[in-house]
Amino acid sequence: MKVIVTGSYDESCAVVAEMIKDLVVSKPNAKLGLATGGTPVPIYKKLIAMNEAGEVDFSAVHTVNLDEYCGLSGDNPQSYRYFMEKHLFSQVNLPQGSTHLPNGTAPDMEAEARRYEALVESLGYADLQLLGIGHNGHIGFNEPCESFPAAVHPVELTESTIQANSRLFDRVEDVPTRAITMGIGTILKARRILLIAGADKREIVEKALTGPITPWVPASVLQLHRDVTVITCGE
Ligand code: PGA
Repeated sequence: MKVIVTGSYDESCAVVAEMIKDLVVSKPNAKLGLATGGTPVPIYKKLIAMNEAGEVDFSAVHTVNLDEYCGLSGDNPQSYRYFMEKHLFSQVNLPQGSTHLPNGTAPDMEAEARRYEALVESLGYADLQLLGIGHNGHIGFNEPCESFPAAVHPVELTESTIQANSRLFDRVEDVPTRAITMGIGTILKARRILLIAGADKREIVEKALTGPITPWVPASVLQLHRDVTVITCGE
């Protein structure tokens, strides 16, 4: 595992955006595993600027996102599909149809989980998977639990995740209590993993990277992957 400590969060985002650009320049049909949340937004801004400047072309790229809330359709401003359209997809030359997320309104979530895993597999899994980390150590919506879930699956969100994500909703009662997420196995099949975390996540990052590998700290499983880069910042 490689750890890069930068001088600022903006610098971390610049490092990650450059890595994504370099991958797409060298492999124009790269599969990018993307994440939502506050963490990646500045990275997406930098990618949009690079795309506008003609430095990177997304026309042959496919994207696969980690997760989606259950019960929210893509036109709901709180859904992750909406988030991705707003912060990245609609602002770069990614073809419609090349961007993939689980469908949060599928009638049968178990069937949707199988469909999404099969889709990610058919694309050959991510060349590069971008990850944030929750204060409880979750990656995607793989919450602390008794065993590492292998494949895409529906999940009940923990109270701490509901509380953390309620900042983006009017009321905590509006936060969905279920989600559908790539499993730990799906994430580990990415060829390269970039985990980016701001200074507020220092404690959990430390625990995940140097503590015991346990599903109670889901990100700790990254210690087993052969190509993980963690980008944190000193302030
Ligand atoms: P954040 O969420 O980027 O909004 O802090 C990260 C996560 O929960 O994975």
